[in-house]
Amino acid sequence: MRIGNLQFSNNIALAPMAGISDPPFRELCARLGAGLTPSEMVSADVGLWNSKKSRYRLRRWGNRTTQIVQIAGYDPAMLAEAAARAEQLGAAAIDINLGCPAKKVCRRLAGSALLNDPPLIARIFRRVVERVSVPVTAKIRTGWSPERRNGVEIARIAEEQGIAALTVHGRTRACKFGGHAEYDTIRKIKRAISIPVIANGDIDSAAKARDVLEYTGADGVMIGRAARGRPWIFSDIGSQLIAASTRDENLSLFFVRDIILEHLDGLYSFYGESTGVRVSRKHLSWYSQHQEGGRCFREHVMAVETAREQLRLTQEFFYKIAREAEAERERSRGERSGENGKQQKNLKEKEEEKVCNRQAGDGCKESAA
Ligand SMILES: Cc1cc2nc3c(=O)[nH]c(=O)nc-3n(C[C@H](O)[C@H](O)[C@H](O)COP(=O)(O)O)c2cc1C
Repeated sequence: MRIGNLQFSNNIALAPMAGISDPPFRELCARLGAGLTPSEMVSADVGLWNSKKSRYRLRRWGNRTTQIVQIAGYDPAMLAEAAARAEQLGAAAIDINLGCPAKKVCRRLAGSALLNDPPLIARIFRRVVERVSVPVTAKIRTGWSPERRNGVEIARIAEEQGIAALTVHGRTRACKFGGHAEYDTIRKIKRAISIPVIANGDIDSAAKARDVLEYTGADGVMIGRAARGRPWIFSDIGSQLIAASTRDENLSLFFVRDIILEHLDGLYSFYGESTGVRVSRKHLSWYSQHQEGGRCFREHVMAVETAREQLRLTQEFFYKIAREAEAERERSRGERSGENGKQQKNLKEKEEEKVCNRQAGDGCKESAA
């Protein structure tokens, strides 16, 4: 996918998510096939860029991602200044946030609150585009409210003012995160403008990504919440969209375990041990949420304070479920072929016994229940 002078490896983007898509997560998702990985939003007030939070968000880290810095604000001059500073710091592209409904942003009339003021949006786009030499993109919603779905109008303004690509989240500002994303407006936007359009909202599988691309005609897709605890969704989507093949749905849990350990390592080296351990907790919650025994694991892992312990518990838990899944696969293969049925049953019983013993030793409430 091409945006201005930048060539990306594919058309699958990780969504900017404040508090989630930090540099280590972006690097991991890029390794797993996300072609575009914009940063979490930073305020257009560069006076705040010395805060710890902004420093983390602006930091360049890893070598797989093209740095796209997202800025949020309301004042054209401030946004232009922020864009210029981000460019000086090495940003390869600037993304303007017109999609975030968060109160903190909207009270200051930034993010999606700007969708109610198209002339101001035009001034913002013009000032920022004039000020930097890197491509400027924008992320919008389908409009201000269901009654004022002015996404097409905003998209035309974006193109006229030199915006190089537009991401559209299929909800209005008033919808926040409620209901379902709709793709009709994204389709209309795609037909109305000729710059690349990236469709976003509720895309949680390769099949959905393909359907949304087909329906909207968009040039790319952006994945947000579905990547939490599932960063390999990018390779799933990539292997279907790009290699046009179907992927083994039974992703190896050993592979999953290795990804998670790599993610934790990244978080420790990026934030240092203490913050790294704290930031890792929410990711471990997402990684374990659909796993049997996950509640028990979380109970233990949330309480530890050192990277060593966190890694040990994580390694053990995901090794255990990977072994169980493997044993289960072996057993059903054996049952299907009618061979070694008894042997497989014994293997399962032994595995279960081992797990029970270990969990009983840990004194976990869930396993006792
Ligand atoms: C926790 C969280 C933080 C977010 N932070 C940002 C942000 O910093 N900038 C932005 O443009 N959108 C932000 N979003 C919106 C997402 O980029 C995306 O548009 C939205 O989640 C819809 O996509 P999804 O259904 O794939 O999650 C955030 C969403 C979530 C859930």
